[in-house]
Amino acid sequence: MARVLVTGSADGLGLAVGQRLIDQGHDVVLHARSDARAAETGGAAPGAADVLVGDLSSDAQTRALADAANASGRFDVVIHNAGVGSGAGRTEDGRSTLLAVNVLAPYLLTAQMTRPDRLIYLSSGMHRSGSADLAALDTPSYGDTKLLDAALAAAVARRWPDVLSNAVDPGWIKTRMGGSGAPGTLDQGAATQVWLATSDDPAATVSGRYFKDSAEERPAAAVQDEAFQDALLAVLARATGVDLPA
Ligand SMILES: NC(=O)c1ccc[n+]([C@@H]2O[C@H](COP(=O)([O-])OP(=O)(O)OC[C@H]3O[C@@H](n4cnc5c(N)ncnc54)[C@H](OP(=O)(O)O)[C@@H]3O)[C@@H](O)[C@H]2O)c1
Repeated sequence: MARVLVTGSADGLGLAVGQRLIDQGHDVVLHARSDARAAETGGAAPGAADVLVGDLSSDAQTRALADAANASGRFDVVIHNAGVGSGAGRTEDGRSTLLAVNVLAPYLLTAQMTRPDRLIYLSSGMHRSGSADLAALDTPSYGDTKLLDAALAAAVARRWPDVLSNAVDPGWIKTRMGGSGAPGTLDQGAATQVWLATSDDPAATVSGRYFKDSAEERPAAAVQDEAFQDALLAVLARATGVDLPA
């Protein structure tokens, strides 16, 4: 049985992944942005061990979430699922909400939480149209942030060889973000994350890779560019004031 944290699990793919892991008997901690959302999340997934709270658009709340997660005990697996789409505006800290929720929050949580055995970062096929221009970080597109998520997963894999760190494209899935016209089901959208989180299959126990439909895909070139990964870690350390531990 694995102890798993799924961020952004009040709804959509996060809730679906959490529920499937609960159904398999794992010890699952969910996460919601507010106490009100946490109450709804607990109601939607009563088998969850707990629901942690923190608005990932807030630097302070993200740090507090890392502290609360650490205080609750070490996780075997952390799934960085929370995300927002384009048009998300600016945060109270004055940052791009896309950057804060999709990139800075998973970075901060990774850097500040006790190291798990496995890390999974939600990317997207749209990362292929993303820009690798780190100078334009303050006004990213959705695709830019998903390129950075995939590169972050690969960078963490290199920095921490003892951790399995991978990125996932869940496919175009019917959720609030994916929209009602999306062709994919929640079952399809959750399957790869559940497999990477729990399977001992040699194909799932690799690191620094990019997956879709439980199979490796070659991501955009920047994702596997080690100089770009190092530059990204340096920029994220500067933006947050937190270094990723060696
Ligand atoms: N659906 C797709 O077709 C698709 C395709 C490719 C990649 N993805 C990726 O898959 C992940 C999940 O997407 P989804 O389709 O499940 O989206 P969703 O239905 O919109 O769910 C997003 C989740 O993230 C949470 N969240 C957003 N902002 C937050 C914040 N500031 N603090 C805390 N939690 C926050 C949401 O909480 P609230 O419900 O309270 O807002 C919700 O639980 C995302 O990273 C997305 O980029 C999705």
